[in-house]
Amino acid sequence: MRTSTFAIDSLFAVLLLHAVSWATCDSVNEPFLQCLENHSNPSDPISAVVYTPNNSSYSSVLQAYMRNLRFNESTTPKPQLIITALHESHIQAAIICAKRIGLEMRIRSGGHDFEGISYSSVNPFFILDMFNLRSINVSISDATAWVQVGATLGEVYYRIAEKSNTHGFPAGVCPTVGVGGHFSGGGYGNMMRKYGLTVDNIVDAQIIDVNGRILNRESMGEDLFWAITGGGASSYGVVLAYKIKLVVVPATVTVFTVERTLQQNATDIVYRWQQVADKLDEDIFIRLRMYVVNVSSESDEKTINTAFISLFLGDSKRLLSLMNQSFPELGLKQTDCIEMTWAQSILYWTGFPIGTPVNTLLSRIPQPLTHAKLKSDYLKEPIPKDGLEYIWKRMIELERPVLTFNPYGGQMAEIPASDKPFPHRAGNICKIQYLTTWSEDGVEAANHYLNLTRMLHGYMTPYVSKSPREAFLNYRDLDLGINHNGPNSYTEGAVYGIQYFKDNYHRLVQTKTKVDPHNFFRNEQSIPTLPSFRK
Ligand SMILES: Cc1cc2nc3c(=O)[nH]c(=O)nc-3n(C[C@H](O)[C@H](O)[C@H](O)COP(=O)(O)OP(=O)(O)OC[C@H]3O[C@@H](n4cnc5c(N)ncnc54)[C@H](O)[C@@H]3O)c2cc1C
Ligand SMILES: *[C@@H]1O[C@H](CO)[C@@H](O)[C@H](O)[C@H]1NC(C)=O
Ligand SMILES: *[C@@H]1O[C@H](CO)[C@@H](O)[C@H](O)[C@H]1NC(C)=O
Ligand SMILES: *[C@@H]1O[C@H](CO)[C@@H](O)[C@H](O)[C@H]1NC(C)=O
Ligand SMILES: *[C@@H]1O[C@H](CO)[C@@H](O)[C@H](O)[C@H]1NC(C)=O
Ligand SMILES: *[C@@H]1O[C@H](CO)[C@@H](O)[C@H](O)[C@H]1NC(C)=O
Ligand SMILES: *[C@@H]1O[C@H](CO)[C@@H](O)[C@H](O)[C@H]1NC(C)=O
Ligand SMILES: *[C@@H]1O[C@H](CO)[C@@H](O)[C@H](O)[C@H]1NC(C)=O
Ligand SMILES: *[C@@H]1O[C@H](CO)[C@@H](O)[C@H](O)[C@H]1NC(C)=O
Ligand SMILES: *[C@@H]1O[C@H](CO)[C@@H](O)[C@H](O)[C@H]1NC(C)=O
Repeated sequence: MRTSTFAIDSLFAVLLLHAVSWATCDSVNEPFLQCLENHSNPSDPISAVVYTPNNSSYSSVLQAYMRNLRFNESTTPKPQLIITALHESHIQAAIICAKRIGLEMRIRSGGHDFEGISYSSVNPFFILDMFNLRSINVSISDATAWVQVGATLGEVYYRIAEKSNTHGFPAGVCPTVGVGGHFSGGGYGNMMRKYGLTVDNIVDAQIIDVNGRILNRESMGEDLFWAITGGGASSYGVVLAYKIKLVVVPATVTVFTVERTLQQNATDIVYRWQQVADKLDEDIFIRLRMYVVNVSSESDEKTINTAFISLFLGDSKRLLSLMNQSFPELGLKQTDCIEMTWAQSILYWTGFPIGTPVNTLLSRIPQPLTHAKLKSDYLKEPIPKDGLEYIWKRMIELERPVLTFNPYGGQMAEIPASDKPFPHRAGNICKIQYLTTWSEDGVEAANHYLNLTRMLHGYMTPYVSKSPREAFLNYRDLDLGINHNGPNSYTEGAVYGIQYFKDNYHRLVQTKTKVDPHNFFRNEQSIPTLPSFRK
């Protein structure tokens, strides 16, 4: 009975898919393709970068930057075409023609969006793929760099390190993450306590707006520049490049990973970490990761392992002395400390073995590539010891979700909350990340692991920020609320907008209304326009 219902359903699904793809070719693709041709510059023909489902490489181009295998499914809606822009004129043509035809555009740089919204939509859509636009020009003399959005963080780090071992940039740890989404969403990394976020170190940008104009910071104005440095650029236009300010790093940095299980007093040490992690010297960053393991290899009894993973901007001697003063409970020893260059420390943090060549930063193959669900929270007060014990019990029941605390304080507490759309500054001990990964394909497995992640998030409710329950845009989470055609009102967008941006949501809406009044740039969680704001 069940089986036959399923068979009929899938037959209908197949028929429906055919109907959709035929409708696609006849009614939408052809005029769109023709419009693109019409707006193509003969010296940079757009046909060379347009992939329709007809093209033999369509699937491989589509899959190349799908960085969450949860969306590499036959049931995931596919684009009518993909434009792998090589030139500004390709982007201008894409915007002008998509507006004219009424086809939804998704912009993809590195494809790491946790909910896959840069390459999927329930509405008919196409992808503007930016991976070809990836040049990086580093100028050590004035400590800046222009970086195109299709570059990866690893490429940015490598190009800096190639010219100087005392310069760096405070962005995320995973080298395959793309500049476009990461910078525009307010990316953070393990130097944020010392230097703030990526967006605190961006000095200029180039964007193509809804009218196809190429603007820089001066011509776009401060509101739009502000919005695309933390508010997510996908509500505002297509960013081409950012100009970043490099920061100083010592020639030698120190890393360590110290692990303790519940049997090794992890509860006491985690409790203490919550009191010191955001107050330590700004040169110390200690991430705390907690996950379920077997008590021993002979036993399937479960415990929690806590890993304290650190980057210190200095040598091990100073680190040991600082840790002895401020966090002796961790029991850090000289033998735990590994000195290396800053570029090598990125590879260490990504999980590569010591001695991995630095040019591995140039690899575009993610480590690892899996199915994943993430959520986020902010911690304002230490979780009491009995609260920690409660969470450990629940984690052991759920088994799979991993909890990671990234400490704030330092510069993060100094920079005013309205400086950038990212509002989570003073008053936070840390950001909390919930992560579940799995290897099975299919909706059933996904629903199971999504549920586990949501359950753990639910158990944490008493301990984390409230009204709003804050969330981090770059850990995009469609559980917070969605509007498939883009939000239609201030209130609809506020459902997630207040959690991501708090009071800064208002200025984001005003800016959106000014620069994209007809809401061309939209997605499930974009910023709405507001009729009453229109001038
Ligand atoms: C393995 C992994 C590790 C991560 N580590 C970190 C970390 O250490 N720190 C951190 O802060 N975050 C981290 N993230 C999250 C990451 O910063 C975000 O997912 C980021 O948005 C990814 O950027 P992207 O260009 O790769 O993604 P995409 O999926 O290409 O884009 C993400 C969003 O930005 C929009 N967008 C992309 N390019 C442009 C553009 N040129 N113009 C306008 N809009 C654009 C897209 O439309 C989409 O809405 C990590 C993610 C993964 C998967
Ligand atoms: C493309 O240009 C041709 C010739 O100028 C014109 O007839 C046609 O309507 C245009 N099509 C689109 C979709 O812009
Ligand atoms: C897509 O296929 C057509 C022929 O079917 C070809 O002319 C075109 O160049 C292909 N596009 C790309 C980007 O290869
Ligand atoms: C796809 O290919 C078929 C036949 O090869 C052709 O008739 C059709 O126009 C093509 N469609 C697109 C969108 O390129
Ligand atoms: C994505 O799915 C396709 C089709 O099932 C498969 O061939 C491909 O290997 C998958 N990609 C990855 C990275 O697993
Ligand atoms: C870097 O410099 C080259 C050569 O001058 C230029 O073509 C390219 O556009 C520059 N890239 C950026 C991101 O500014
Ligand atoms: C745990 O704490 C107790 C009491 O403070 C102490 O005696 C014991 O040595 C600690 N164990 C470990 C493994 O650190
Ligand atoms: C823990 O024990 C279970 C049951 O014996 C086993 O299946 C699993 O692989 C073990 N996990 C690890 C990480 O060793
Ligand atoms: C740690 O600090 C104590 C005093 O607070 C001192 O006696 C001890 O020598 C220090 N140890 C190290 C390794 O610095
Ligand atoms: C997870 O699944 C269980 C069992 O089906 C259900 O009771 C619970 O409400 C779900 N929780 C969440 C947060 O989705």
